[in-house]
Amino acid sequence: MGAGMTHRPLPPELPADLALQLITAGQERVCGGWDRLDESRRAGLVAQLRSLDWPLVTEMRQRVLAKQGPEQAAAPPGDVLPNLDNAVTPPCLRLRDDHNPIPPALAAEHGIAALAAGRIAAILVAGGQGSRLGFDGPKGLYKIGPVSRASLLEILCGKLVAVAKRHGAAVPLAVMTSSATDAVTRDFFSRHERFGLPKDRVLFFTQRDLPVLCDTTGEIVRADLGQLAMSPDGHGGMLGSLVAAGGLEWFARQGVDHVISFQVDNPLAMPLDSEFLGYHLLTGSEFTPQVVHKADPKERVGVVVADGGVTRIVEYSDLPAQLATARLPDGRLKFHAGSIAIHAFTRDFLERASANADALPLHMAHKAVPFIDGAGARVVPDAPNAYKFERFIFDLMPLARTVTLVEVDPVEGFAPLKNASGAAADTAEHVMAAMVAHASRLLGRAGVTVTGGVPVELAANRIVNADDVAEYLPPGSTIKEPRVIGS
Ligand code: UTP
Repeated sequence: MGAGMTHRPLPPELPADLALQLITAGQERVCGGWDRLDESRRAGLVAQLRSLDWPLVTEMRQRVLAKQGPEQAAAPPGDVLPNLDNAVTPPCLRLRDDHNPIPPALAAEHGIAALAAGRIAAILVAGGQGSRLGFDGPKGLYKIGPVSRASLLEILCGKLVAVAKRHGAAVPLAVMTSSATDAVTRDFFSRHERFGLPKDRVLFFTQRDLPVLCDTTGEIVRADLGQLAMSPDGHGGMLGSLVAAGGLEWFARQGVDHVISFQVDNPLAMPLDSEFLGYHLLTGSEFTPQVVHKADPKERVGVVVADGGVTRIVEYSDLPAQLATARLPDGRLKFHAGSIAIHAFTRDFLERASANADALPLHMAHKAVPFIDGAGARVVPDAPNAYKFERFIFDLMPLARTVTLVEVDPVEGFAPLKNASGAAADTAEHVMAAMVAHASRLLGRAGVTVTGGVPVELAANRIVNADDVAEYLPPGSTIKEPRVIGS
């Protein structure tokens, strides 16, 4: 695949400084087909080229070219992997486990006190393109409620509303969008009156885009004649963009000193679980990830590893097979603390880390990206042809002075929507089944029987735990028809 039309000189109309920039960066073919562009599309292309961070684009191209050698072709895609020979899985506190060195009830008490004092805020990262799901629109709009058909956004924001109501203090929410999701997501929030969140407690901010590069030449892929293919800079773009939008000051003004980030595609997420917050607070942790026990090396979750006093997360796609499958003498995977991308941070840590936000490593993802070919025709490839570049939030972890891992049971807190129907895991069908199973279990704990296989759902903005059920259903009740409890 070539990014340009032909080897012609750069168009004479191109501003000289930009032309020089393109030549220096090896991107001169990006203007191929210039003669076929009208004035406004030429101006659009020039503006897009001017907006790029050229030293970064040059570094990205070098990364692509460095992958061309035979030994590099076998290297893991992230190619920023530390040496893990001496790495271990750090110890984890386990949610709802009385054997923890900190009793769960004490942790919950501290979490509740912080929520009631308004010291906790959340960041929802919702800028992803959701390409695997193949849904027409931002993933947050996907109607995942097994009975209600409520969207992911409604369910997740509902959880914040429920917790705020219960503890009498709002939970400020910063929502990260990208150029791919921004307008539709904001409009959806506003049409649904922010799902009950107070207007002055929701802040939107938009992450940056990076150009997509051809996997053989490192040239910028064009989505159209006169238009570069761009993709969001990964959820790790969060900190830099949050700071640029004044988000950390926004939290500080509201008296917040701990912030929990979570993702738009996990309707079972428990970012505000009081016990989880309590462990974060009581251990004085700067960065507290929720993890699940990874039992199968094929599970697509990154793992938390510790080595020489540094704790980090290694993405599943970056973990060499012999490390991913290595086992401890007791049979557990050596690296079994699977991150589910729910992280509690102190605001102080985010402030300190923000000095390094743009220095987070860029990971490369090999993807099939539609492009304009040498004849100017649009091609939709069926195999990867280009690299997208992303930063990951969890790469902030090595900067933290203290890290505490909190293990959650996946049946309680993890059901990500990633793939289109028919895939082996993480499809809407899997997620809905997990939601129904979770609701049935929680109802069971509240003394309510669900007759075999009947779909049930908990109204996210009303029911936080089994104690809330009695308000809607007395113990001893039986559910025989599909129902949303609490609506
Ligand atoms: P994923 O990495 O699973 O990506 O995002 P995705 O966009 O949802 O799906 P694919 O990989 O294209 O199929 C996990 C979370 O991180 C957010 C997503 O919105 C989701 O909440 N994210 C991802 C961002 O906010 N920005 C990004 O650039 C990438």
